[in-house]
Amino acid sequence: MTSLRRLVHSRVLLHLSESPGVHSSLPRCGRLLSTSSRCRTVMPAWVIDKYGSNEVLRFTKNASFPIINYPNEVIVKVFAAGLNPIDVAMRGGYGAATLSMKRDPLNIKQSGSEFPLVLGRDVSGVIMECGLDVKYFRERDEVWAAIPPWKQGSLAEFVVLSANEVSHKPKCLSHIEAAAIPYVATTAWSALVNTGGLRKDNCANKRILILGGSGGVGTFAVQMVKAWGAHVTVTCSQNAERFLRGLGADHVVDYTAGPVEEPLSALEKFDLILDNVGGDTERWALKLLKPWSGSKYVTLVTPFMQNTDRLGVADGMMQTAATVASKALKAVWCYQLVSTVISSMSQNVDLTSDLFGSSLQSQ
Ligand SMILES: NC(=O)c1ccc[n+]([C@@H]2O[C@H](COP(=O)([O-])OP(=O)(O)OC[C@H]3O[C@@H](n4cnc5c(N)ncnc54)[C@H](OP(=O)(O)O)[C@@H]3O)[C@@H](O)[C@H]2O)c1
Repeated sequence: MTSLRRLVHSRVLLHLSESPGVHSSLPRCGRLLSTSSRCRTVMPAWVIDKYGSNEVLRFTKNASFPIINYPNEVIVKVFAAGLNPIDVAMRGGYGAATLSMKRDPLNIKQSGSEFPLVLGRDVSGVIMECGLDVKYFRERDEVWAAIPPWKQGSLAEFVVLSANEVSHKPKCLSHIEAAAIPYVATTAWSALVNTGGLRKDNCANKRILILGGSGGVGTFAVQMVKAWGAHVTVTCSQNAERFLRGLGADHVVDYTAGPVEEPLSALEKFDLILDNVGGDTERWALKLLKPWSGSKYVTLVTPFMQNTDRLGVADGMMQTAATVASKALKAVWCYQLVSTVISSMSQNVDLTSDLFGSSLQSQ
């Protein structure tokens, strides 16, 4: 847990409940939220009205108040929000075509109907209202969640989510600490467990290489596989070495000292590589895998969103499928597969029980 606490401070956070105009205390009785109240039709939020650089960010006190549309939804009052690289990319238009299709599958709305768009993929807060079918949560429950990129984000006073996207926040974490975790943790879990096939009972003595170990996803991945008994090698810049050794990395290679493929090639081969860096890593990384042993290469840097933005949804999907298939074909002789994690949000991960019930707690 100590290492977990340390890493949460490395994420970019916004403590919204301390922002001007955001109420910091909750009513003690009755429904927490009065939808009939005049002041509840709008809320403060950071929004964007078009894609671009930081200048497109606008603070407003008049963002639309979220409403429950489905009986399994909950409204969460945001106490702390977290940003991820995907928020920065989405501000610039990344994934616009794919996400628009997800928001409006029948293509009924005009283009640009996603604006004003609220960014922020992590939230920690308190349930303010539950849909009629919600049985697992009650008002005032403290919860955390990773918000799917096609939904309005957490840089606002309130956010509406499906109950199955939310879990109870661990009591040992403050809201600020908790808001640093969900998106990167579900991404790391999705890559290692759902795609990479790793579990706490099959990692002992496996050799794992994490490219880009010092980032949000990497720091979680190191702790998970280390807690499960794997031998962990990471690449990072030199100034992150001490931090990563503290998280459990057995071997650290400094990527700023020269091409990492040379020192990595001299090491014993790996059972799984998690690639958080992309670029030309795919060119040499496959050679570092153990041949004929079901070893896996899992990359988080996928061309899927860029392809659909550039070519449209249908052509972009076909282009991505062709790219992934051709890479898989090249590797199929020796390695089980080349996997691409398109979105951590496609997998349902119960953060609280999965992370705190098994992996990190066992440290
Ligand atoms: N965050 C998420 O939840 C999420 C979800 C889906 C996909 N992804 C994708 O996964 C990747 C990693 O995300 P992240 O959130 O971990 O990013 P991040 O927090 O920005 O971390 C990236 C890390 O990569 C390291 N790095 C940069 N160039 C490197 C190189 N050539 N070799 C080794 N390390 C290098 C940097 O390390 P130093 O600081 O040591 O230089 C940095 O800490 C990104 O491509 C992102 O788009 C992320």
